[in-house]
Amino acid sequence: MTNSIADIRSRILDARRAATEAGNPNPRVVLVPTMGALHDGHLALVDHALTLGDIVVVSIFVNPLQFGPQEDLASYPRTLEADVARLAERGVSLVFAPTAAEMYPDGQTGIRLSAGEIGTHLEGRTRPGHFDGMLTVVAKLFHIVGPDAAVFGEKDGQQLFLVKRMARDLNFPVEVHGVPTVRADDGLALSSRNVYLDDAGRRSALALSAALDAAARSGERGIDALVSAAQSVISGEAGIELDYLAVVDPATFLPVAEGHTGTALVLIAARVGSTRLIDNRTVTVG
Ligand code: PAJ
Repeated sequence: MTNSIADIRSRILDARRAATEAGNPNPRVVLVPTMGALHDGHLALVDHALTLGDIVVVSIFVNPLQFGPQEDLASYPRTLEADVARLAERGVSLVFAPTAAEMYPDGQTGIRLSAGEIGTHLEGRTRPGHFDGMLTVVAKLFHIVGPDAAVFGEKDGQQLFLVKRMARDLNFPVEVHGVPTVRADDGLALSSRNVYLDDAGRRSALALSAALDAAARSGERGIDALVSAAQSVISGEAGIELDYLAVVDPATFLPVAEGHTGTALVLIAARVGSTRLIDNRTVTVG
C-alpha cells in the first residue's frame, strides 16, 4: 500500500517491467477505484479485474469532492487495514490510498470536471456537484494509474454511465467495464453505507430491491404499471422515504414514458432514517 502518487506510478512501472521480462510484452493494467470499507461487491469488481489484466491496482480514497456539505464525509466508514488485508488475500498488492492533500493540493478550489446535463438528473439533482467531484477523481486516478481497463459496479448505474461517457467524450484510452450488483441473500444491494442501518432499518431497506422486483414482474404491462407496482411496495413500508423512482433508457439515461418497449433501467433512491440508499435493475418492458 502507498499513499504517494509518485510511488504508485513507479510500482506500476516496475510491475509492467517485471511482466515484460517474464515474457509478456504487453501487460494490461486494470484499475478498481473504491472508497474502501470493502465488501463482497467491491471484491467482485476485483475478481473481474483479475480476469481482464495482469496488473490490478485498487484505489481507496474517500473523495471529499463528491460529498455535499450535509453528507456523511466525516462518518463514512474507514477500514483501511482490513481492506488491505482482504486485497492481499486476493493477491492484490498495488493499493493506492492517498490523503486528500496528495490528491488536492489546492483543497476544494482546484480545477474540476463537469458531468454535464445527465449529471444534474436523479442522483445529481439530490446531490448537486456529486458527479463533478466523482468524475474529477476518476479522471485523476486514470491519469495517475494509466490503466488499460477500469472496473465499476452496476449498483451505481448513473456513475457507471457517466464514467463511460467521460472516457468517450474526453478520449481516455481506458475500457470501462461494469459488474452486476452483488446482493445479500435477502436481496439488499451490498453497500458500505449499510453499516449505518440498525435491524429495523435493514428490514425497511429491503423495500428497495423488493420494489425493483415488483417493477420487473410488471414490465410486460408497460411503464406506468411498472412504476405503480414499484411505488406501492415503497408506500407499504413505513420506515422508508422515497427520493426518486425513475425509468430510463440505458443507452441515453433519459427518462422513458408509457409506450416504450424493450430494455429499460429502473432506478430507485430512498432514505431509511438518515441513511440514503440507491439501487437499480434492468427490466424488459412490453
Ligand atoms: P464505492 O462506493 O466505494 O464503490 C466502489 C465501486 O464498487 C463502484 O464502482 C461501485 O459501483 C461498486 N460497488 C459498490 N457496491 C457494489 C455492489 N453491491 N455490487 C457491485 N458493485 C458495487 O463508487 C465509489 O466508491 C466512488 O464514487 C468512486 C468511483 C471510487 C470515486 O470516488
